[in-house]
Amino acid sequence: MSITAKFRAIAGVALVGAMALGITACSGGSSDSPASTAAAGSGDLVTVGFVAVGPEGGWRTANEQNIQDSFSKANGFDLKYAPATNGDQNSQITAFTSFIDEGVDAILLSATEATGWESVLKRAQEAEIPVVLLDRGIEPNDDSLYTSHIAPDNVGISASAATWANAQFPNGTNYVVLEGPPGLSVVNDRNKGWDATIGKTFTKLESQSANWSTEEAKSVFETILKANNNNVQLVFAQNDEMGLGAALAVEEAGLKPGSDVKIITIDGTKSALEALAAGRLSFVAEYNPLFGETAVDVVNAALAGKTVEKDIVVPSVTFDSPAAATAALPDRKY
Ligand code: AHR
Repeated sequence: MSITAKFRAIAGVALVGAMALGITACSGGSSDSPASTAAAGSGDLVTVGFVAVGPEGGWRTANEQNIQDSFSKANGFDLKYAPATNGDQNSQITAFTSFIDEGVDAILLSATEATGWESVLKRAQEAEIPVVLLDRGIEPNDDSLYTSHIAPDNVGISASAATWANAQFPNGTNYVVLEGPPGLSVVNDRNKGWDATIGKTFTKLESQSANWSTEEAKSVFETILKANNNNVQLVFAQNDEMGLGAALAVEEAGLKPGSDVKIITIDGTKSALEALAAGRLSFVAEYNPLFGETAVDVVNAALAGKTVEKDIVVPSVTFDSPAAATAALPDRKY
């Protein structure tokens, strides 16, 4: 009997209990719920297919390492890590399909694209394999197609950035947005939170993708500065690497980041906090990547037949000054 079938046999009772108690998976717990305990006890490991993005920048490295550390053999898991080939969704769909054919117990998905997942998600559903979305959502967001989505709140995080900008420029100012790749759920949500919050007296001069890249952001922003005779006072960069690229462009133009141009970034990696401490960035909003334990709790709860929250928000903090960044740096884990 497969490990999943075994859990389904146990889950008959657990499900009744869960329904009565309305148990939902919660973040930050230990990984000692029935599945991993049974797995650890019986020696059978719970097999989990991780359809991942792969190398993309500091945030992604921290997130994927944390997932691999959390779904360890010591915690009762055999994690099969499948990073995308050069960010290509087809390679992810191939890996996802192979995991279904292999009959893994659960699948984790960090999608390189937001659309195009319906058919494989339906196949996983037919095979009764729980799918947990990590970080990236899917469009259209049909939440019947997956067990749970775990991520920090992109809309709230970008709204907090806009709130800070409103306080910095009470009469508004000219700004530029450096976006991630078009169409991603995180990009759409970061635009949504920012646009809904930024003051009406602000002027968006440009919004352009720099594909999460420092080099591309430097080149894109250099062009924008030239086209606007350096008359840009604010940059909303949707990740740290692009914000650091914008800072390089500002310095190349003979301007001072932090005073001539204030740069906001999202992620909260060490390099961004070091830049904030040095005054090269002005506001850093964490997009907390360390939610591996939460993902373990969700997978264990799903395999034990418990009810699981559809949308699990990972707490994140913001940093708005060199002093805040300096104070946080010694304890940063990524
Ligand atoms: O989906 C999260 C985004 O992807 C991060 O903000 C960015 O750094 C990563 O590449």
